[in-house]
This record gives sequence, structure tokens and C-alpha cells, in this order.
Amino acid sequence: MITGNKIVLRGKKLADAKNDYTWKTDPELARLDASPRLTTSFPQYLLDYTSELRYSHSIRRNFAIETQDGKHIGNCGYYGIDETKGEAEVGIMIGNRDYWDKGYGADAVTTLVKYIFRETNLNRIYLKSLDWNTRAHKCFQKCGFTRCGRLVKDGLSFVLMEIHRKQWQQWQTEA
Ligand SMILES: CC(C)(COP(=O)(O)OP(=O)(O)OC[C@H]1O[C@@H](n2cnc3c(N)ncnc32)[C@H](O)[C@@H]1OP(=O)(O)O)[C@@H](O)C(=O)NCCC(=O)NCCS
Repeated sequence: MITGNKIVLRGKKLADAKNDYTWKTDPELARLDASPRLTTSFPQYLLDYTSELRYSHSIRRNFAIETQDGKHIGNCGYYGIDETKGEAEVGIMIGNRDYWDKGYGADAVTTLVKYIFRETNLNRIYLKSLDWNTRAHKCFQKCGFTRCGRLVKDGLSFVLMEIHRKQWQQWQTEA
């Protein structure tokens, strides 16, 4: 368990499957996440989910985001861990809309970044978000991320943002 101010990050578990399925089949969330909406049945999803949980990943770590009173409201994680370059990409989804615009996303990202810089040797964390997703940009700016480029992929335009360990240390002392 990794504790932030408003949230707790914990390992994923089978009981998350129902919420995750609801969020992954939601058209608006899929659009915001620039990912295809899931169309498989829940029983099939559950089978895949169960085997995924058993598999230990060396290039990615996923966490559930819970409120301090234990409600599962979303997920986050880091992926594409590149030890040679010393970097990884982070991703976040607050699936429960009741928790948007209340600082839960910023607290989850801040907590995840703190965990990565404290527990790994990685020096750079980056992310991408759709260029029109201003809520996401604002959230990441609040966490100390700065814009570092643009990317066009599959006809979609993304803003790239990053935070370096040194910036983060500096940002922490100023916060
Ligand atoms: C993007 C996301 C992680 C942000 O988390 P959150 O808890 O909603 O965000 P926060 O409350 O920490 O910060 C959002 C900020 O954007 C502001 N905001 C919201 N809509 C906005 C808009 N259209 N334009 C500008 N700012 C906006 C909020 O007021 C808030 O700023 P404030 O704290 O100064 O008031 C979350 O909303 C989410 O997962 N959304 C659905 C999926 C998604 O967009 N995924 C893309 C991730 S790359």
C-alpha cells in the first residue's frame, strides 16, 4: 500500500475486475484514454484478467487507486520501464466520474511519481495525453510535469509531458 493525501495505491486484485470492465467498456473513457472500447464479454474478460494477475511483469507495474476509505475509483501504473535509458511512462484513469476534478488524479500521480523516484533508479518519467484533454494536462502540470513534445499516432494528436528526478527534487523543495 502506498499512501497519498487523498488516495491509496495498492496492487491489483480479482475483485477489481468488475469496475475495470465497466470502465473499459465505457465509450467516453475509451475516447479520453485513446484506446479502443473493450467489446469482449465479461466472462472472457475475467478469464484473461485472472491469468494477467498471475503473471509477474518486469516492464510494468499496475496499481488500483482507492479513496482513503477503501473505494476503488481508478487505476494507474508505469510501463515500458527502460533501465538503460532510465525512464518509464505513466498512465492513469479515474474511472468513477464522481471523483473527477476533486484532486484525486493529481494526488494519485504525485504519489506514483514519488514511489517511482524513491523505489527505483529511474530518472525520467513521461506520459502522453490527447491534445484536447485539458483536464489531464492541468492535472499533470499540478504534479510538476512539463510539456516536452508532441506525437501523432494513428491519426490522434498527443501532448508529451515529462518530469526528471532533479526537477522533481527541486519541485518538492518548493512545494
Ligand atoms: C485526467 C484525470 C486523471 C485527472 O484527474 P482529476 O482527479 O479529475 O484531476 P484533478 O482534480 O487532480 O485536476 C484537474 C484540474 O483540471 C481542471 N479542469 C477540469 N476540466 C478542465 C478543462 N476543461 N479545462 C481546463 N481545466 C480543467 C480542474 O478544475 C482541476 O484544476 P484545479 O485543481 O486547479 O481546480 C481524470 O479526470 C481521468 O482519469 N479522467 C478520465 C480519463 C482520462 O482523461 N484519461 C486520460 C489520462 S492521460
